[in-house]
Amino acid sequence: MTWRASVLTLFPDMFPGPLGASLAGRALARGVWTLEARNIRDFATDRHRSVDDTPCGGGAGMVLRADVVDAALAAVADGRAADGRAADGRALVCLTPRGARLSQARVRALAAGPGVVLLCGRYEGIDQRVIEARGMEEISIGDYVLSGGELAAMVLLDAAVRLLPGVMGAAASAAEESFAGALLEYPHYTRPVEWQGRRVPEVLLSGNHAAIAAWRQAEAERLTRCRRPDLWAEYTGSRAGAPAAAR
Ligand code: 6GU
Repeated sequence: MTWRASVLTLFPDMFPGPLGASLAGRALARGVWTLEARNIRDFATDRHRSVDDTPCGGGAGMVLRADVVDAALAAVADGRAADGRAADGRALVCLTPRGARLSQARVRALAAGPGVVLLCGRYEGIDQRVIEARGMEEISIGDYVLSGGELAAMVLLDAAVRLLPGVMGAAASAAEESFAGALLEYPHYTRPVEWQGRRVPEVLLSGNHAAIAAWRQAEAERLTRCRRPDLWAEYTGSRAGAPAAAR
């Protein structure tokens, strides 16, 4: 079954953008997934085709209008229920820095479903009433501010599409990657064995598979402890029953 992505944006020309290249682009060309970018402005009703207005209560910037966004959602998602789903079961997602931070677990769940309808915020925000009325899930990709939700939508789509059946060359590489097992990934090396005076760690050339696995595990733990104390705490917590030496 084809995984379907619809994107509502004021900048449809930004798509497919980077999603047209590499792994996601090949999967798109092969029909593993489809991408439809719709211009929110096409759903404006007044003669100026206005999509936004000044914020109630005052303040800087402009807010996307609920009626215009709702008409766009009705066109791509059908249905009317506030259950956060399109009529065909796809998740309704609003990309906004106010959202819950996107996780690999959420990406996995979205990739396992029929697809997504992504609403890209611009200006200062979107009238909250349409987000509530449709039961949309609000998602952010991290603690920094982008000028709009489009790049965040592309990040979400790239992360989901690579998990679709038949997209990744080696399924094994997905399982070993960062976050799948709560530790950051160990470092990688390839030939030449010596480059600018730096040698590949000897253990990786030893042919001793147990020693190599132990070295990779130790490197993954060291990296995670230094760079991501949050992930490290989760990892050690999940091993609370293990001997102290393993924590
Ligand atoms: Cl989803 N949108 C914007 N505008 N900025 C962000 C973001 C989304 N996620 C992180 N920063």
